[in-house]
Amino acid sequence: MGMLDELKRLDQELDSELKQTDSLSSLEALRVKMLGKKGQLTALLRSMGSLSAEDRPKFGQLINERRERFTALLDEKQKKMQALEQEMRLKAEQVDVTEPRRLPEVGTPHPNTLVLNEVVDCFTGLGFEVVEGPEVELDHYNFELLNIPKNHPARDAQDTFYIDDNVVLRTHTSPVQARIMTTRKPPIRIICPGRVYRADEVDATHSPVFHQIEGLVIDENISMGDLKATLAAFANRLYGKDIDVRFRPSFFPFTEPSAEVDLTCVSCRGKGCRMCKNTGWIEVLGCGMVNPRVLDMCGIDSKKYSGFAFGIGLERITMLRYGIQDMRLMYEGDMRFLRQFR
Ligand code: PHE
Repeated sequence: MGMLDELKRLDQELDSELKQTDSLSSLEALRVKMLGKKGQLTALLRSMGSLSAEDRPKFGQLINERRERFTALLDEKQKKMQALEQEMRLKAEQVDVTEPRRLPEVGTPHPNTLVLNEVVDCFTGLGFEVVEGPEVELDHYNFELLNIPKNHPARDAQDTFYIDDNVVLRTHTSPVQARIMTTRKPPIRIICPGRVYRADEVDATHSPVFHQIEGLVIDENISMGDLKATLAAFANRLYGKDIDVRFRPSFFPFTEPSAEVDLTCVSCRGKGCRMCKNTGWIEVLGCGMVNPRVLDMCGIDSKKYSGFAFGIGLERITMLRYGIQDMRLMYEGDMRFLRQFR
């Protein structure tokens, strides 16, 4: 084949391959194939030795023209491809800075917490201090100092989780009364919210773990009237001014006299409904005047001081507050339930 034909063929090869090239690396391969040291154009240049001295400069010039043309075409294509690749990368790496960020999920306070906060507000407003005591408690505080000796029948009423003979999961918050009375001098005005444990079966109104709020006031001349007025303030604050408190005689070894306290039914406001079994009243807590025996056992002079105590079931007053029918809902952690209380 003549040199001229060969040049023409190279022109065509370059044009068609340039069209097919779709990446910078294949473009570079084409450049090497044409213009590289072992490339086709270079090979053609080498083969010029076979030409006559007269033809040589002519072909040399033609080959140089090709070199310039090829280089220009390859450079142009390279620029285009680089621009294209950059555009594609920018598109792929695009970040939409205006896109709203995903907000972390924020929980809501448990209904028990909401009601406890109100109770704490109410009693701190009346001059009470909030204290706490251990959930794993000595039998001594949970029972003995509260006038419930070993073998006392009142122990059977509280299905206790015993750790050993002397250690129990507290069955009520009342041991905190004994802890405070044995370490402080009157006047004492405390409430103690906390978790308590009883070996109860789970149902709509029972749980082996629940919460109480203990109250204790010790000073000179404290009467049952003070107790009733304090509980009335609590009832009015939580459920409204139209709610009355009613005392019914009861028994606790650590209070004398003792009472169960009813409130005007918060559902029917006293008219009588299914919830209050048509009585207009609902039972909410136990209370009484601190038994002088307990005062003396705890080192407080019962001739000089008197006091009252009460124990409120937190779940009970929370369920009444929000009309929650089943206690189990409060322990399941279902956000559809919990999110309703804000
Ligand atoms: N501790 C009693 C209970 O759990 C309640 C109570 C507290 C009664 C304080 C009287 C005084 O049932």
